[in-house]
Amino acid sequence: MNAPTFLRQHARQVHASLERMLNEHRSGMPDRLWEAMRYSLLAGGKRIRPVLLMETYRACGGRSLSSIMPAAVGLECVHTYSLIQDDLPCMDDDSLRRGQPTCHCQYDEATALLASDALLTLAFQLLAESEWPADVRVELCRRLAMASGGAGMVGGQMLDIEADRHSINNELEIERIHVQKTGALICYACEAGALLASAGEEQVRHAARFGRALGLLFQVTDDILDVTASTETLGKSAGKDQHQQKATYVSALGLPRAKELADEWLAIALEAACQLGDKDGHLASLAQYVRNRDR
Ligand code: IPE
Ligand code: IPE
Ligand code: MG
Ligand code: MG
Ligand code: MG
Repeated sequence: MNAPTFLRQHARQVHASLERMLNEHRSGMPDRLWEAMRYSLLAGGKRIRPVLLMETYRACGGRSLSSIMPAAVGLECVHTYSLIQDDLPCMDDDSLRRGQPTCHCQYDEATALLASDALLTLAFQLLAESEWPADVRVELCRRLAMASGGAGMVGGQMLDIEADRHSINNELEIERIHVQKTGALICYACEAGALLASAGEEQVRHAARFGRALGLLFQVTDDILDVTASTETLGKSAGKDQHQQKATYVSALGLPRAKELADEWLAIALEAACQLGDKDGHLASLAQYVRNRDR
């Protein structure tokens, strides 16, 4: 399935904002570090997380997309940091990412590690420097730290590595890994969009529910694509999970059950999007796209 038109348009806006933001923050950075950050960040990811933030913001009544770009690009910085580290030899040891050599292959391991560190910290700088009220900035920093840290993405990566060594074949254990390693940042995207639109408590809850379902849907489809799609289409190495004996929905439950689960989470996500007030149906089409994407 092709990305919906609005996703492609927003992704272009995210790309342009990332490029501008990198130029504005170049001062003081060693050239090699800045170039490695730029190399990974502008390589052309799908930009699902920043676009989710933008569309949740719109669904909750937000009107000024340009004003929330620091949060959108900051989130893409954190995601890109997680990809650079995920690809390191001590992690998944991958050589291809976003259709080009991984950061440590293009540069070297130390540069990749430092570029990812700088991307992570830059995200918090962007939130702190933004023009929103202080309480909003603090709350976004707190939620982003929780979503990306030890009880979120980083914790999920730890569980993912540990799961290599034990055999995991139970749905709930895989779910715990995926909720943290992928779900937490996607959920943050939706919560942040709602908070920036000054949504009420109930709407923020619906946004979080949408984000949780979409996060699981996102990782189960990533697991499915690893066995069904080609390296060329994915822009990253296909068949990697099986090769490395990763605990995934497909390895634990088989492809048919993984597809059934994807459909179940899609249904939950669509229902939550409806309750959130997804007037133009953009959140629903993002969820459909995540389910039916080919990369
Ligand atoms: C890949 O994320 C890593 C996972 C969490 C599964 P994406 O599929 O969003 O990667 P890009 O940003 O499009 O490259
Ligand atoms: C990575 O999951 C999730 C992250 C936190 C980066 P995967 O290891 O399955 O991601 P890919 O398949 O390499 O993109
Ligand atoms: Mg991994
Ligand atoms: Mg990986
Ligand atoms: Mg994967």
